[in-house]
Amino acid sequence: MCGIVGAITRTNCVPFLIDGLKRLEYRGYDSAGLAIANMEDHQIQRARSVGRVSELELHAAYLDARLGIAHTRWATHGIPSERNAHPHMSEGKGFAVTVVHNGIIENHDEVRRRLMVDGYVFHSDTDTEVIAHLVHQKMVAGADLLAATQAAAAELHGAFAIALISSNAPNTLVAGRKGAPLLVGVGDAELFIASDASALISQTKKIIYLEEGDILCATDKNLRIFDARGNLAQRPVVTSQLSADAVDLGPYQHYMQKEIFEQSGAIAATLEMVSNAQSINPELFGADASPILNQVSQILILACGTSFHAASVARYWLESIAGVPTVVEIASEYRYRESVCLPNTLVITISQSGETADTLAALHHALAMGVEHTLSICNVPESALIRASRLKFLTRAGPEIGVASTKAFTTQLAALFTLTLVMAKIRGRLSGPQEGMLLAQLRHLPAAVAKVLEIEPEIKKWAPLFANKEHALFLGRGVHYPIALEGALKLKEISYIHAEAYAAGELKHGPLALVDSNMPVIAVAPNDTLIEKLKSNLQEVSARGGELFIFADRDTKLTASPGVHVLKLLDHAGHLSPILHVLPLQLLSYHVALVKGTDVDKPRNLAKSVTVE
Ligand code: F6R
Repeated sequence: MCGIVGAITRTNCVPFLIDGLKRLEYRGYDSAGLAIANMEDHQIQRARSVGRVSELELHAAYLDARLGIAHTRWATHGIPSERNAHPHMSEGKGFAVTVVHNGIIENHDEVRRRLMVDGYVFHSDTDTEVIAHLVHQKMVAGADLLAATQAAAAELHGAFAIALISSNAPNTLVAGRKGAPLLVGVGDAELFIASDASALISQTKKIIYLEEGDILCATDKNLRIFDARGNLAQRPVVTSQLSADAVDLGPYQHYMQKEIFEQSGAIAATLEMVSNAQSINPELFGADASPILNQVSQILILACGTSFHAASVARYWLESIAGVPTVVEIASEYRYRESVCLPNTLVITISQSGETADTLAALHHALAMGVEHTLSICNVPESALIRASRLKFLTRAGPEIGVASTKAFTTQLAALFTLTLVMAKIRGRLSGPQEGMLLAQLRHLPAAVAKVLEIEPEIKKWAPLFANKEHALFLGRGVHYPIALEGALKLKEISYIHAEAYAAGELKHGPLALVDSNMPVIAVAPNDTLIEKLKSNLQEVSARGGELFIFADRDTKLTASPGVHVLKLLDHAGHLSPILHVLPLQLLSYHVALVKGTDVDKPRNLAKSVTVE
């Protein structure tokens, strides 16, 4: 979703702005733009274009200045077009203000009406343009850029991050955040801002994470940060752990492919503390986790998309292994629903980015309802979600650039299984030998993942069989039903084939009507207690002429026949089988997308970090 970069540099800042935007491309966008302020002649120049950042790079090639802001836009208010692309500008009374913005201004209609009464003319359909005019209006009334931005921010409702420059303050960059991320990179007599650390990595590892409501004012001489109440604030400079390698493509064709094959290492890194321990302990979730988890009598998990699927797998584990009543809910539903919250509920939020607006709002909704015990499982340290939760578990997947989530999902599952073991132990449901056996399964997981990924050449052969299909059905049962859901989500988001997933037992209650020779049916078929039931469901498909693609275990007794394709996974992982069974589904959607020639890493209409509702 929208990305912001900005800089005050010693030489031309435009190459950094372009490089920073390119590094934020993964977030998803449909247009891009930048504005620079020339410190010598006080002029602001702007370049904007629809499409890729490389297009903007051509438009901006002639620009040269030491102060600038830039943006990738993912359209919310107004179609993707040059006039809706950021930066937006307000000009008049001899000066200009220009702004880039991430998030949504909820009261933009009302603010726009007031500004129009004051003579401001709007040139775009965006909510962002009100910020430029509002700040301009306040500067006309005598405020400087900082004071005008602080006053404007106080009038704006919604969640946003903004950065502004003005020809009336040609040495000054003002930026702030309220509900959307913004980081500062501290260089050698240089300063950078960006929506996430990956955009800063080529310049500096010294990062300041702005707090909610912070507004910064930077010149080439100094940096001041003001908190939400306008008081001067001190924010620590931390060293980012992100390495340039982590965000480079290396030998891979796409980030999604790279991230699929990074899963073994990502899971090993996530489980490092667990694997090295002789026994499982609650402190893995925070220093004060033990007394909190001991009080927990039920769990509510809130998440969106792929993270919701991880939550859905965890529900099976938490109830069957730990015996904790567990409810899973889509965050965007929960946040607006009148629900009943029982005492001693642990509310878990799961998010790769930690900035997903719906998940954050769901957590705040739970807190407002009086929930005391909160835990976030997240891949981004210092994210809004991590900061808002009492307990936390950081997955160590490294940056996930491909829009379709892969390694974030499997590391979330590794974290959730760890939590299951902790809860089982607290509730006296784990004997010493069982604990040892389950820990051994966890330790074996990275090797099992690597082994299962060896299936790729076989899956490549299946991919062309899907290329001219318009629909696909995914089936699973029990803890593998959410894996079928995840497989369908992966296929639809990157290959644009309409895919649905059903608990296989539901087939005869409706979806069976869809099955004919044009409907490929993909089945997740581990050799578990439900396999015989699943086999009956698969017979129902075959009997109606449906073509079956089955992912079985090494020892599942299923053989290929005309219309029935079977691939067997090369390793087992006991309770962790869902983590192995999602891997071939990720590979299948990747290879089908390759055959179809879609934009694998940046599928149409989607954004990586969904910071708006
Ligand atoms: C799908 C995908 C999305 C995200 C969802 C939540 O591949 O990536 O469905 O899982 O937008 O994002 P996070 O986990 O960042 O909260």
